Amino acid sequence: MPFVAFYSEHSDLELQNEWEDRLRVHHPLVKLVPLFSDQAENAITALLWKAPLKRVKKLNNLRGLISLGQGVDHILKDNIIDNKIPVVRIVDPFMSKSMSHWVILSVLNFIRDTFGYYNQQKNKIYKSRKEINFTTIKIAVYGIGAIGSIVSKDLKQLGFKVYGWSRTQKKISGINCFIGKNKFKYLLKSCDIHICLLPLTIETNNIFNNFSFKMMKHGSCFINAGRGEQVDEEHLIENCKSGHISSAILDVYRKEPLPKMSELWHQENIMIWPHVAAETNPETAAKQIANAIKCIENGKLPPNTIERKLGY
Ligand code: NAP
Ligand code: GLV
Repeated sequence: MPFVAFYSEHSDLELQNEWEDRLRVHHPLVKLVPLFSDQAENAITALLWKAPLKRVKKLNNLRGLISLGQGVDHILKDNIIDNKIPVVRIVDPFMSKSMSHWVILSVLNFIRDTFGYYNQQKNKIYKSRKEINFTTIKIAVYGIGAIGSIVSKDLKQLGFKVYGWSRTQKKISGINCFIGKNKFKYLLKSCDIHICLLPLTIETNNIFNNFSFKMMKHGSCFINAGRGEQVDEEHLIENCKSGHISSAILDVYRKEPLPKMSELWHQENIMIWPHVAAETNPETAAKQIANAIKCIENGKLPPNTIERKLGY
């Protein structure tokens, strides 16, 4: 019986059983066992989300690690895991679309001033508010990979001018694609809405700080669904307080769950979402995970194995 060690941040047996049922449709012999069980010692694959890595490191039979999300920073964190063990990530078009819906919701709420109208309703005020001409809005999408490329195309479809930023040059019809630090600054200066969909790496850590916020136009909107560590939260709060950033919509934080003490909760023009912009869907992701497990069992490198050197 090929064991798979399982750990999810919200680990409960019900979730583990759901994954096992979904995976067995494609790999009938698969058996998930809790990461902290004795059986996990025999596992050759681990299926993980925000797992205690010291425990993972102790499992000597592991030949491959699979992230229960598209990001792998939770596995590569602190370089605890031997870099010879392949790390596989999910790449699910369902998640890209789901993220796209969340980004569109956030962008449209900003442009149509949903919360301004909501506040008016509370005071029974029936009057129109200033409308932004959407054809003039420039949107920067930082990270135009599996998720960001879909988000960019969908935003373009809605009539916005969309600019993408990546590490290597991309060509996406209708999107102005850029690379490099100078173009990063150019996008900060020239766009009205800034959307972070970058993976967390050494290069992207703290990339949105006072320096970048100050470069943005006065009144910009900042949206982050990449990773919390990409943002200096104190600098963001300062810039939101002053109104330089007129609105921030966040889905990810340096510390999750967002601590009750965090000042982010209290800032009126910051909207807090609890890391739900694009959740992993066992129904749509099971087939590729089952295939990755089979590959690892057969000594093959699964599709979507990440490049350890790049960190994503
Ligand atoms: P991906 O396919 O690997 O795309 C990452 C993009 O970022 C690529 O365009 C990549 O450039 C670019 N990039 C990486 N490092 C860069 C750098 N130093 N400078 C400029 N661009 C850089 O990843 P994905 O599947 O789209 O996911 C992106 C991230 O979204 C995940 O890592 C995760 O953190 C986050 N996420 C969040 C949620 C949520 O619910 N909030 C859900 C899923 C994922 P190249 O194209 O040149 O490689
Ligand atoms: C979620 O944040 C993911 O990386 O899939």
